Amino acid sequence: MRKKIFSCHSFITHAIMKFASQSCFIKGEYQKNMFNEIINFDQMDLNAAPPSKEPERQYYFIARCREWVKDFQKENGRLPRACVFNMGCQMNARDSEKFRGILAAIGYENVEQEDADLIIYNTCTVRENANLKVYGHLGALGAKKKKNPHMRIGLCGCMMQEPEVVEKIKKSYPFVDLIFGTHNVFKFAELLWLSIDSDRTIIDIWKDTDQIVEDLPCQRKYFFKSGVNIMFGCNNFCSYCIVPYVRGRERSRAPQDILKEVRALAEDGVVEVMLLGQNVNSYGKNLEHPITFAQLLEEVAQVEKIKRIRFMTSHPKDLSDDLITVMSRYDKICPHMHLPLQSGSSRLLKIMNRRYTKERYLELVDKLRGAIPDISLTTDIIVGFPGETEEDFQETLDVVRKVGYDSAFTFLYSKRTGTPAAVMENQIPEDVAKDRFSRLLTEVQEIAKERSSRFQGQVLPVLVEEVNTHTPGLMTGRLANNLLVHFPGDRGLLGQIRDVRLDESRGFYYMGTLADSPRKDG
Ligand code: SAH
Ligand code: SF4
Ligand code: F3S
Repeated sequence: MRKKIFSCHSFITHAIMKFASQSCFIKGEYQKNMFNEIINFDQMDLNAAPPSKEPERQYYFIARCREWVKDFQKENGRLPRACVFNMGCQMNARDSEKFRGILAAIGYENVEQEDADLIIYNTCTVRENANLKVYGHLGALGAKKKKNPHMRIGLCGCMMQEPEVVEKIKKSYPFVDLIFGTHNVFKFAELLWLSIDSDRTIIDIWKDTDQIVEDLPCQRKYFFKSGVNIMFGCNNFCSYCIVPYVRGRERSRAPQDILKEVRALAEDGVVEVMLLGQNVNSYGKNLEHPITFAQLLEEVAQVEKIKRIRFMTSHPKDLSDDLITVMSRYDKICPHMHLPLQSGSSRLLKIMNRRYTKERYLELVDKLRGAIPDISLTTDIIVGFPGETEEDFQETLDVVRKVGYDSAFTFLYSKRTGTPAAVMENQIPEDVAKDRFSRLLTEVQEIAKERSSRFQGQVLPVLVEEVNTHTPGLMTGRLANNLLVHFPGDRGLLGQIRDVRLDESRGFYYMGTLADSPRKDG
């Protein structure tokens, strides 16, 4: 059931569409939905009431906004510019691509600077410093908006699902025009129209949802790779984590919709997909016709033009033997697993509500390495969780040494209001946590450096992903195991899978040289 916790719409119409019938130049290439199907927004009947069915309702509001863009262009001699800043994880990044797709369909030019006409911050709240960053940006934007009162500012994403955050924004940053959350991302066009059409702050936050609205436009950051949502939300309630509160309960997308999207991406030139979910290993359990993540992965692997498949994130408690078997059977499933540990102490893991022990975790690592010998393992670790003793911390270091991670994200525990851990009495003093953090970082970095050098001298396929911004003439590619390699080349290589010789390990990346002519399958 969808519930609104608060909403204050203003429907005052003061923008009269003077030039609605005149033609204008609005880019048409993003008038496609995420399945690559053409949508003709210009055929919407804007004299009729908005449809109640989704996604038609959003098409209607995209069309409304397109009329506004025509007026804007008449007045200013240019298209309006929009900038979407992504501040969170891959799931947020994918949502940002949906916003950019809708904005492009409306006629906005997507830019990357803060002096745009519309600025959207897609926020994260997993740790406190994520929130502090947003307030920092807002402070600076306040002054900019005074100089340019036409500038429109929108906030969305996980942080907006916290009522106290919204209260603070209303009070301290009243110049924000639009606030919405994670459950109504698909309503972006409608909310933007409401904002354009009124002089009030539009706030629309849903407490939860059971809706998954497909068929909306999406603009990818990379033409050759893409994230694909396979599920939304999380049911795990790890005791430190705010994600289940801000992303809601676990909902899996239907496998046929996922496959339709993957096939459409493949037809559109995508060679790598990353299947996204907070806990991909529990995919499909709540579907009407349950299917496992291993089965889904195997189906995705059948899509011929997809050459690389990644996924994120695997929870150790649900990692099945079937998944390991499927991974070992298909070369195109990348030999990389991000397997968050959080802590090496079974005692703390229990209080964290992670539902595995140190021993079980190490067993999984053995199984993975047994089936896929060269697999690259990465992880997330939290230090300073309430009650963490030096002995607990030593257990974490022990796992780090035993596993030998290829890389690890280490985090200082951050108290999140509303989570069970936030009210635990034995919070760790900052200096103790920081000391452990730096000891852990040193250990992790030394091991990762040694691990990543094991491919030196080999020739391996890389997906060429970026023009290197630091050194002109260099391109950056990614090995199947997720390591980066920089090598001389030009932007014509972007999106190709090419063999590169890994000449020199530089710790966390390689310097290399191109070692092939173009592959037929690249
Ligand atoms: N669903 C993923 C994690 C998503 S959040 C999983 O279960 O692995 C990404 C990472 O942020 C987590 O793995 C955890 O290490 C870290 N994290 C989450 N809450 C945190 C908190 N309160 N303080 C510090 N780190 C946290
Ligand atoms: Fe947070 Fe745990 Fe869910 Fe990951 S599995 S998002 S850490 S509650
Ligand atoms: Fe952050 Fe939300 Fe992702 S809290 S980590 S952006 S799910």
